[in-house]
Amino acid sequence: MLNFMESLGIDVGGSGIKGAIVNTKNGEFITERHRTETPQPATPEIIAETIKQIADHFNWTGKIGCGFPSVIQNGIIRTAANIDKSCIGVNANELFSAVTGRQIKVYNDADAAGFAELRFGKVKNFKGLALFLTVGTGIGSALFYEGKLIPNTEFGHMYMNNKLKAEHFTSDAIRKKEDLNWKNWGKRFNEYLEYMETLLYPELIILGGGASKKFEKFSSEITIKAPIEPAQLLNNAGIIGAALLA
Ligand code: BGC
Repeated sequence: MLNFMESLGIDVGGSGIKGAIVNTKNGEFITERHRTETPQPATPEIIAETIKQIADHFNWTGKIGCGFPSVIQNGIIRTAANIDKSCIGVNANELFSAVTGRQIKVYNDADAAGFAELRFGKVKNFKGLALFLTVGTGIGSALFYEGKLIPNTEFGHMYMNNKLKAEHFTSDAIRKKEDLNWKNWGKRFNEYLEYMETLLYPELIILGGGASKKFEKFSSEITIKAPIEPAQLLNNAGIIGAALLA
């Protein structure tokens, strides 16, 4: 029998697609996390098939929430920075629901992860302007004010003064590609945070994604005024938030 306090959360990333069944009352995983490599090219049909395989893996027929690395307006994919360009314009809610035979709702991945922090993590009870950043293949962002999400911000696409987009200057993928040590990467990331601070003046910054687990390795390089902390739910926030939004 289906339990209505459970849903399947899926996080579609540039390198992996991950899912787990989540208790939406307390944000805890009910199952182990299941991960599949993101197939290349990551076309919407192939991503839909992969989501179906993950739902089948869990024998799951209930609701599914999905975080996706794009601007998503009412289920429609508007951008494709790190996935196949053929995703643009596709109604992901409709396509993914049709291919999987389940009811799926799709949201921007950083918004979903930030939403989990809002419910159960570091943004809970915080009423000021909070900026949530996920640092992985790209840089995703979510903005919260008075406990409300302002969706689809794309602060990873800000141009730095060296004319690179922030996510081409200081994402986790760039750290690996350029073989930067944490100190040197931290200096770059701090430059980006300083820029964000002059534009937004957030009162709290929360870091999610892969880099959040290594915060102590680069925190000494961070000199901005706003308090900055790793996400409480670390790398699981994306799955938990997607499940909550299902
Ligand atoms: C995308 C965002 C996404 C972020 C993290 C960026 O390249 O444009 O929509 O949130 O990557 O995956």
